[in-house]
Amino acid sequence: FRTIDDLDVAGKRVLMRVDFNVPMKDGKVTDTTRIDRTVPSIKELTGKGAKVIILSHLGRPKGKKNLDFTQKPVAEALAAKLGQPVAFAPDCIGPDAKAVVDAMKPGDVAMLENVRFYAEEEKNDLEFAKKLAEVGDILVSDAFSCSHRAHASVEALAKLIPSAAGRLMQQEVEALSAALEAPTHPVAALVGGAKISTKLDVLGNLVEKVDQIIIGGAMANTFLAAKGVDVGKSLCEHEMLENARVIMAKAEKAGCEIVLPTDAVVAAEFKAGAPSEAVAVGAVPADKMILDVGPASIVGLTGRLAGLKTLLWNGPLGAFEIEPFDTGTNAVAQEAGKLTKAGKLLSVAGGGDTVAALAHAGADSEFSYISTAGGAFLEWLEGKTLPGVAVLRK
Ligand code: 3PG
Repeated sequence: FRTIDDLDVAGKRVLMRVDFNVPMKDGKVTDTTRIDRTVPSIKELTGKGAKVIILSHLGRPKGKKNLDFTQKPVAEALAAKLGQPVAFAPDCIGPDAKAVVDAMKPGDVAMLENVRFYAEEEKNDLEFAKKLAEVGDILVSDAFSCSHRAHASVEALAKLIPSAAGRLMQQEVEALSAALEAPTHPVAALVGGAKISTKLDVLGNLVEKVDQIIIGGAMANTFLAAKGVDVGKSLCEHEMLENARVIMAKAEKAGCEIVLPTDAVVAAEFKAGAPSEAVAVGAVPADKMILDVGPASIVGLTGRLAGLKTLLWNGPLGAFEIEPFDTGTNAVAQEAGKLTKAGKLLSVAGGGDTVAALAHAGADSEFSYISTAGGAFLEWLEGKTLPGVAVLRK
Protein backbone atom coordinates (compact mmCIF):
# COMPACT_ATOMS: atom_id res chain seq x y z
CA PHE A 1 0.00 0.00 0.00
CA ARG A 2 1.40 3.41 -0.85
CA THR A 3 0.62 5.95 1.86
CA ILE A 4 1.21 9.63 2.56
CA ASP A 5 4.55 8.54 4.07
CA ASP A 6 5.75 7.64 0.56
CA LEU A 7 5.05 11.11 -0.84
CA ASP A 8 6.86 14.41 -0.87
CA VAL A 9 3.96 16.83 -0.75
CA ALA A 10 5.52 20.14 0.29
CA GLY A 11 4.46 22.91 -2.09
CA LYS A 12 2.67 20.37 -4.32
CA ARG A 13 -0.91 20.43 -5.56
CA VAL A 14 -2.39 17.38 -3.86
CA LEU A 15 -5.70 16.26 -5.31
CA MET A 16 -7.51 14.42 -2.58
CA ARG A 17 -10.32 12.07 -3.63
CA VAL A 18 -12.68 11.78 -0.69
CA ASP A 19 -16.19 10.42 -0.37
CA PHE A 20 -18.22 13.44 0.68
CA ASN A 21 -21.36 11.76 -0.59
CA VAL A 22 -23.03 12.92 2.63
CA PRO A 23 -26.69 13.12 3.60
CA MET A 24 -28.19 16.56 2.94
CA LYS A 25 -31.46 18.26 3.85
CA ASP A 26 -32.55 21.74 2.73
CA GLY A 27 -29.08 22.46 1.36
CA LYS A 28 -27.30 21.54 4.60
CA VAL A 29 -25.16 18.55 5.53
CA THR A 30 -27.05 16.50 8.14
CA ASP A 31 -24.30 14.02 9.05
CA THR A 32 -20.66 15.08 8.87
CA THR A 33 -19.11 11.71 9.77
CA ARG A 34 -17.45 11.25 6.38
CA ILE A 35 -16.08 14.81 6.52
CA ASP A 36 -14.83 14.43 10.11
CA ARG A 37 -13.01 11.21 9.27
CA THR A 38 -10.91 12.82 6.51
CA VAL A 39 -9.85 15.82 8.58
CA PRO A 40 -6.68 14.10 9.92
CA SER A 41 -5.39 13.43 6.39
CA ILE A 42 -6.19 16.96 5.24
CA LYS A 43 -4.48 18.52 8.27
CA GLU A 44 -1.45 16.30 7.89
CA LEU A 45 -1.08 17.33 4.25
CA THR A 46 -1.58 21.05 4.84
CA GLY A 47 0.79 20.78 7.80
CA LYS A 48 3.42 19.45 5.40
CA GLY A 49 2.91 22.46 3.13
CA ALA A 50 0.69 20.84 0.50
CA LYS A 51 -2.03 22.66 -1.40
CA VAL A 52 -4.99 20.34 -0.80
CA ILE A 53 -7.64 20.16 -3.51
CA ILE A 54 -10.66 18.14 -2.43
CA LEU A 55 -12.53 16.13 -5.04
CA SER A 56 -15.71 14.12 -4.46
CA HIS A 57 -19.03 13.06 -5.86
CA LEU A 58 -22.38 13.79 -4.26
CA GLY A 59 -25.46 11.75 -5.09
CA ARG A 60 -26.22 10.47 -8.57
CA PRO A 61 -26.62 13.48 -10.92
CA LYS A 62 -26.40 11.11 -13.91
CA GLY A 63 -23.45 12.76 -15.64
CA LYS A 64 -25.05 16.20 -15.96
CA LYS A 65 -24.50 19.48 -14.17
CA ASN A 66 -27.36 19.75 -11.67
CA LEU A 67 -27.02 22.24 -8.83
CA ASP A 68 -29.31 20.13 -6.64
CA PHE A 69 -26.13 18.09 -6.21
CA THR A 70 -23.61 20.91 -5.77
CA GLN A 71 -20.75 20.33 -3.36
CA LYS A 72 -20.77 23.98 -2.24
CA PRO A 73 -22.56 23.37 1.09
CA VAL A 74 -20.17 20.49 1.70
CA ALA A 75 -17.20 22.84 1.18
CA GLU A 76 -18.75 25.12 3.81
CA ALA A 77 -19.17 22.23 6.24
CA LEU A 78 -15.56 21.23 5.65
CA ALA A 79 -14.31 24.79 6.27
CA ALA A 80 -16.14 24.80 9.62
CA LYS A 81 -14.52 21.47 10.57
CA LEU A 82 -11.03 22.55 9.51
CA GLY A 83 -11.30 26.03 10.99
CA GLN A 84 -9.89 27.50 7.79
CA PRO A 85 -11.39 28.81 4.54
CA VAL A 86 -12.08 26.35 1.74
CA ALA A 87 -12.14 28.02 -1.69
CA PHE A 88 -14.84 26.51 -3.89
CA ALA A 89 -14.35 25.95 -7.63
CA PRO A 90 -17.63 25.70 -9.59
CA ASP A 91 -16.14 23.03 -11.85
CA CYS A 92 -13.82 20.07 -11.29
CA ILE A 93 -11.86 20.51 -14.55
CA GLY A 94 -11.02 23.32 -16.98
CA PRO A 95 -10.40 27.04 -16.43
CA ASP A 96 -12.76 27.46 -13.45
CA ALA A 97 -10.96 24.72 -11.54
CA LYS A 98 -7.52 25.97 -12.59
CA ALA A 99 -8.20 29.57 -11.57
CA VAL A 100 -9.00 28.50 -7.99
CA VAL A 101 -6.04 26.10 -7.78
CA ASP A 102 -3.59 28.64 -9.27
CA ALA A 103 -4.48 31.08 -6.50
CA MET A 104 -3.63 28.59 -3.72
CA LYS A 105 -0.65 28.85 -1.38
CA PRO A 106 0.97 25.98 0.55
CA GLY A 107 -1.34 25.01 3.42
CA ASP A 108 -4.50 26.17 1.59
CA VAL A 109 -7.53 23.96 1.00
CA ALA A 110 -9.91 24.17 -1.96
CA MET A 111 -12.81 22.03 -3.09
CA LEU A 112 -13.88 21.25 -6.62
CA GLU A 113 -17.47 20.84 -7.83
CA ASN A 114 -19.14 17.40 -8.01
CA VAL A 115 -17.10 15.11 -10.24
CA ARG A 116 -20.26 13.23 -11.31
CA PHE A 117 -21.42 16.31 -13.25
CA TYR A 118 -19.43 14.61 -16.04
CA ALA A 119 -20.65 11.31 -17.50
CA GLU A 120 -17.00 10.40 -18.18
CA GLU A 121 -16.41 9.98 -14.44
CA GLU A 122 -18.52 6.83 -14.12
CA LYS A 123 -17.06 5.51 -17.40
CA ASN A 124 -13.54 5.54 -15.90
CA ASP A 125 -12.63 7.68 -18.93
CA LEU A 126 -8.91 8.22 -19.39
CA GLU A 127 -9.21 11.56 -21.23
CA PHE A 128 -11.37 12.89 -18.39
CA ALA A 129 -8.86 11.62 -15.83
CA LYS A 130 -6.16 13.54 -17.73
CA LYS A 131 -8.22 16.72 -17.35
CA LEU A 132 -8.49 16.09 -13.61
CA ALA A 133 -4.72 15.51 -13.49
CA GLU A 134 -4.17 19.02 -14.85
CA VAL A 135 -5.09 20.49 -11.45
CA GLY A 136 -3.04 18.09 -9.32
CA ASP A 137 0.54 16.85 -9.11
CA ILE A 138 -0.29 14.00 -6.72
CA LEU A 139 -3.41 12.01 -5.82
CA VAL A 140 -4.21 11.02 -2.26
CA SER A 141 -7.26 8.77 -1.96
CA ASP A 142 -9.25 8.73 1.26
CA ALA A 143 -12.39 7.46 -0.45
CA PHE A 144 -12.60 3.86 0.75
CA SER A 145 -16.39 4.06 0.74
CA CYS A 146 -16.49 4.52 -3.04
CA SER A 147 -13.47 2.34 -3.82
CA HIS A 148 -15.87 -0.29 -5.24
CA ARG A 149 -16.55 2.09 -8.13
CA ALA A 150 -14.09 1.86 -11.03
CA HIS A 151 -14.57 5.52 -11.84
CA ALA A 152 -12.14 8.02 -13.38
CA SER A 153 -11.31 9.90 -10.18
CA VAL A 154 -11.06 6.64 -8.21
CA GLU A 155 -9.13 4.42 -10.58
CA ALA A 156 -7.90 5.92 -13.88
CA LEU A 157 -6.50 9.06 -12.22
CA ALA A 158 -4.52 7.00 -9.69
CA LYS A 159 -2.55 5.48 -12.56
CA LEU A 160 -1.78 8.83 -14.19
CA ILE A 161 -0.07 10.72 -11.38
CA PRO A 162 1.77 9.57 -8.23
CA SER A 163 -0.94 8.30 -5.88
CA ALA A 164 -1.24 6.99 -2.34
CA ALA A 165 -3.76 6.13 0.35
CA GLY A 166 -4.77 8.76 2.88
CA ARG A 167 -5.02 7.93 6.58
CA LEU A 168 -8.75 7.07 6.46
CA MET A 169 -8.23 4.70 3.53
CA GLN A 170 -5.35 3.10 5.45
CA GLN A 171 -7.47 2.71 8.61
CA GLU A 172 -10.43 1.24 6.73
CA VAL A 173 -8.33 -1.37 4.95
CA GLU A 174 -6.36 -2.26 8.09
CA ALA A 175 -9.49 -2.64 10.24
CA LEU A 176 -11.35 -4.72 7.68
CA SER A 177 -8.33 -6.91 7.05
CA ALA A 178 -7.89 -7.49 10.79
CA ALA A 179 -11.49 -8.65 11.03
CA LEU A 180 -11.77 -10.71 7.87
CA GLU A 181 -8.42 -11.61 6.29
CA ALA A 182 -6.39 -12.47 9.38
CA PRO A 183 -8.76 -12.45 12.35
CA THR A 184 -8.22 -13.88 15.80
CA HIS A 185 -10.62 -16.83 16.15
CA PRO A 186 -13.33 -17.52 17.08
CA VAL A 187 -14.77 -14.97 14.68
CA ALA A 188 -18.45 -14.35 14.04
CA ALA A 189 -20.26 -12.21 11.52
CA LEU A 190 -23.58 -10.78 12.56
CA VAL A 191 -25.56 -10.18 9.40
CA GLY A 192 -28.96 -8.56 9.68
CA GLY A 193 -31.27 -6.50 7.55
CA ALA A 194 -34.35 -7.16 5.51
CA LYS A 195 -33.32 -9.24 2.54
CA ILE A 196 -31.07 -12.18 1.91
CA SER A 197 -31.34 -11.47 -1.83
CA THR A 198 -29.01 -8.46 -1.37
CA LYS A 199 -26.57 -10.45 0.78
CA LEU A 200 -26.28 -13.81 -0.97
CA ASP A 201 -22.70 -13.14 -2.05
CA VAL A 202 -21.80 -11.77 1.39
CA LEU A 203 -23.10 -14.91 3.09
CA GLY A 204 -21.54 -17.16 0.46
CA ASN A 205 -18.11 -15.65 1.10
CA LEU A 206 -18.45 -15.40 4.88
CA VAL A 207 -19.23 -19.09 5.41
CA GLU A 208 -15.72 -19.82 4.13
CA LYS A 209 -14.06 -17.27 6.41
CA VAL A 210 -15.81 -17.06 9.77
CA ASP A 211 -16.67 -19.62 12.45
CA GLN A 212 -20.23 -18.44 13.01
CA ILE A 213 -22.79 -16.34 11.18
CA ILE A 214 -25.45 -14.82 13.37
CA ILE A 215 -28.47 -14.05 11.22
CA GLY A 216 -30.89 -11.33 12.26
CA GLY A 217 -33.52 -9.03 10.83
CA ALA A 218 -36.17 -10.16 8.39
CA MET A 219 -33.41 -12.15 6.69
CA ALA A 220 -33.62 -14.60 9.58
CA ASN A 221 -37.30 -15.19 8.72
CA THR A 222 -36.30 -16.45 5.28
CA PHE A 223 -33.82 -18.87 6.88
CA LEU A 224 -36.43 -20.04 9.40
CA ALA A 225 -38.98 -20.56 6.63
CA ALA A 226 -36.35 -22.51 4.68
CA LYS A 227 -36.15 -24.83 7.69
CA GLY A 228 -39.89 -25.34 7.57
CA VAL A 229 -40.85 -22.85 10.29
CA ASP A 230 -44.17 -21.03 9.77
CA VAL A 231 -43.30 -17.33 10.10
CA GLY A 232 -46.91 -16.06 9.88
CA LYS A 233 -47.23 -12.59 8.31
CA SER A 234 -43.50 -11.86 8.70
CA LEU A 235 -41.46 -10.24 5.97
CA CYS A 236 -39.94 -13.22 4.20
CA GLU A 237 -38.49 -13.80 0.75
CA HIS A 238 -40.34 -16.99 -0.14
CA GLU A 239 -38.61 -17.15 -3.54
CA MET A 240 -35.25 -17.31 -1.71
CA LEU A 241 -35.83 -20.42 0.39
CA GLU A 242 -33.70 -22.60 -1.85
CA ASN A 243 -30.86 -20.02 -1.73
CA ALA A 244 -31.06 -20.05 2.07
CA ARG A 245 -30.83 -23.85 2.04
CA VAL A 246 -27.79 -23.73 -0.24
CA ILE A 247 -26.07 -21.31 2.15
CA MET A 248 -26.87 -23.53 5.14
CA ALA A 249 -25.49 -26.59 3.34
CA LYS A 250 -22.35 -24.69 2.30
CA ALA A 251 -21.90 -23.51 5.90
CA GLU A 252 -22.22 -27.02 7.25
CA LYS A 253 -19.57 -28.25 4.84
CA ALA A 254 -17.23 -25.39 5.77
CA GLY A 255 -17.73 -25.92 9.51
CA CYS A 256 -19.41 -22.55 9.93
CA GLU A 257 -22.28 -22.43 12.40
CA ILE A 258 -25.41 -20.56 11.26
CA VAL A 259 -27.08 -19.03 14.31
CA LEU A 260 -30.80 -18.24 14.04
CA PRO A 261 -33.12 -16.72 16.64
CA THR A 262 -34.87 -19.21 18.93
CA ASP A 263 -37.66 -16.83 19.87
CA ALA A 264 -39.11 -13.63 18.47
CA VAL A 265 -41.09 -10.55 19.34
CA VAL A 266 -44.22 -10.48 17.21
CA ALA A 267 -47.00 -7.94 16.58
CA ALA A 268 -50.00 -7.66 14.28
CA GLU A 269 -48.57 -4.57 12.59
CA PHE A 270 -45.31 -2.62 12.27
CA LYS A 271 -46.30 0.46 14.22
CA ALA A 272 -45.01 2.28 17.28
CA GLY A 273 -46.83 1.07 20.37
CA ALA A 274 -48.43 -1.90 18.58
CA PRO A 275 -49.12 -4.60 21.21
CA SER A 276 -46.36 -7.17 21.01
CA GLU A 277 -45.43 -10.46 22.65
CA ALA A 278 -42.50 -12.87 22.69
CA VAL A 279 -43.07 -16.35 21.26
CA ALA A 280 -40.85 -19.30 20.33
CA VAL A 281 -39.97 -19.21 16.62
CA GLY A 282 -42.08 -22.34 16.12
CA ALA A 283 -45.16 -20.62 17.55
CA VAL A 284 -45.60 -17.44 15.50
CA PRO A 285 -49.37 -16.83 15.12
CA ALA A 286 -50.61 -16.79 11.51
CA ASP A 287 -51.79 -13.16 11.77
CA LYS A 288 -48.60 -11.80 13.36
CA MET A 289 -45.18 -10.77 12.14
CA ILE A 290 -41.70 -11.10 13.62
CA LEU A 291 -40.22 -7.67 14.34
CA ASP A 292 -37.33 -8.44 16.66
CA VAL A 293 -35.44 -11.29 18.24
CA GLY A 294 -36.94 -12.42 21.55
CA PRO A 295 -35.55 -12.34 25.11
CA ALA A 296 -34.19 -15.91 25.02
CA SER A 297 -32.33 -15.12 21.79
CA ILE A 298 -30.87 -11.99 23.38
CA VAL A 299 -29.56 -14.04 26.30
CA GLY A 300 -28.18 -16.61 23.87
CA LEU A 301 -26.49 -14.02 21.66
CA THR A 302 -24.97 -11.91 24.43
CA GLY A 303 -23.63 -15.12 26.01
CA ARG A 304 -22.24 -16.18 22.65
CA LEU A 305 -20.35 -12.88 22.27
CA ALA A 306 -18.37 -13.68 25.41
CA GLY A 307 -16.84 -16.66 23.62
CA LEU A 308 -15.69 -14.66 20.58
CA LYS A 309 -12.48 -12.83 19.81
CA THR A 310 -13.63 -11.06 16.65
CA LEU A 311 -17.03 -9.76 15.55
CA LEU A 312 -18.01 -8.32 12.19
CA TRP A 313 -21.34 -6.50 12.30
CA ASN A 314 -23.55 -5.68 9.35
CA GLY A 315 -27.23 -4.83 9.67
CA PRO A 316 -29.74 -4.63 12.53
CA LEU A 317 -31.25 -7.61 14.37
CA GLY A 318 -34.78 -6.25 14.35
CA ALA A 319 -36.91 -3.35 13.12
CA PHE A 320 -34.81 -1.00 15.26
CA GLU A 321 -36.36 2.20 13.88
CA ILE A 322 -39.47 1.68 16.03
CA GLU A 323 -39.64 0.92 19.75
CA PRO A 324 -39.72 -1.62 21.29
CA PHE A 325 -38.39 -3.51 18.25
CA ASP A 326 -34.94 -2.00 18.81
CA THR A 327 -34.49 -4.08 22.00
CA GLY A 328 -32.51 -6.95 20.44
CA THR A 329 -30.19 -4.73 18.42
CA ASN A 330 -29.61 -2.44 21.42
CA ALA A 331 -28.86 -5.25 23.87
CA VAL A 332 -26.50 -7.18 21.61
CA ALA A 333 -24.73 -4.02 20.34
CA GLN A 334 -24.28 -2.76 23.89
CA GLU A 335 -22.81 -6.09 25.00
CA ALA A 336 -20.42 -6.09 22.03
CA GLY A 337 -19.41 -2.53 22.94
CA LYS A 338 -18.83 -3.52 26.57
CA LEU A 339 -16.66 -6.52 25.65
CA THR A 340 -14.70 -4.36 23.20
CA LYS A 341 -14.08 -1.71 25.82
CA ALA A 342 -12.87 -4.41 28.22
CA GLY A 343 -10.32 -5.47 25.59
CA LYS A 344 -11.95 -8.88 25.06
CA LEU A 345 -13.33 -8.42 21.57
CA LEU A 346 -12.32 -6.81 18.27
CA SER A 347 -15.52 -5.42 16.77
CA VAL A 348 -15.78 -4.00 13.28
CA ALA A 349 -19.02 -2.69 11.81
CA GLY A 350 -20.15 -1.13 8.57
CA GLY A 351 -22.54 -1.10 5.66
CA GLY A 352 -25.91 0.56 5.10
CA ASP A 353 -28.14 0.83 8.15
CA THR A 354 -25.54 -0.55 10.52
CA VAL A 355 -24.00 2.67 11.76
CA ALA A 356 -27.42 4.21 12.45
CA ALA A 357 -28.46 1.08 14.37
CA LEU A 358 -25.30 1.09 16.51
CA ALA A 359 -25.55 4.83 17.13
CA HIS A 360 -29.19 4.34 18.15
CA ALA A 361 -27.99 1.70 20.64
CA GLY A 362 -25.38 4.15 21.95
CA ALA A 363 -22.70 1.55 21.20
CA ASP A 364 -21.02 3.06 18.13
CA SER A 365 -18.26 4.81 20.06
CA GLU A 366 -17.35 1.57 21.83
CA PHE A 367 -16.78 -0.55 18.74
CA SER A 368 -13.15 -1.07 17.69
CA TYR A 369 -13.87 0.28 14.25
CA ILE A 370 -16.85 1.69 12.39
CA SER A 371 -16.43 1.87 8.65
CA THR A 372 -17.70 4.89 6.71
CA ALA A 373 -18.55 2.55 3.86
CA GLY A 374 -21.92 1.16 2.79
CA GLY A 375 -21.71 -0.59 -0.58
CA ALA A 376 -17.92 -0.87 -0.48
CA PHE A 377 -18.08 -2.61 2.92
CA LEU A 378 -20.50 -5.18 1.51
CA GLU A 379 -18.34 -5.79 -1.55
CA TRP A 380 -15.37 -6.31 0.76
CA LEU A 381 -17.43 -8.86 2.71
CA GLU A 382 -18.24 -10.50 -0.63
CA GLY A 383 -14.51 -11.01 -1.11
CA LYS A 384 -14.38 -8.78 -4.17
CA THR A 385 -11.34 -6.76 -5.19
CA LEU A 386 -12.11 -3.07 -4.79
CA PRO A 387 -10.62 -1.20 -7.79
CA GLY A 388 -9.98 1.98 -5.78
CA VAL A 389 -7.96 -0.01 -3.24
CA ALA A 390 -6.17 -2.30 -5.70
CA VAL A 391 -4.85 0.68 -7.65
CA LEU A 392 -3.02 1.95 -4.54
CA ARG A 393 -1.20 -1.30 -3.85
CA LYS A 394 2.57 -1.20 -4.17
C1 3PG B 1 -21.61 5.50 -0.97
O1 3PG B 1 -22.19 6.42 -0.40
O2 3PG B 1 -21.77 4.30 -0.65
C2 3PG B 1 -20.60 5.83 -2.03
O3 3PG B 1 -20.37 7.19 -2.07
C3 3PG B 1 -21.00 5.29 -3.38
O4 3PG B 1 -22.10 5.95 -3.91
P1 3PG B 1 -22.82 5.33 -5.18
O5 3PG B 1 -23.54 4.09 -4.71
O6 3PG B 1 -23.75 6.40 -5.69
O7 3PG B 1 -21.75 4.99 -6.19
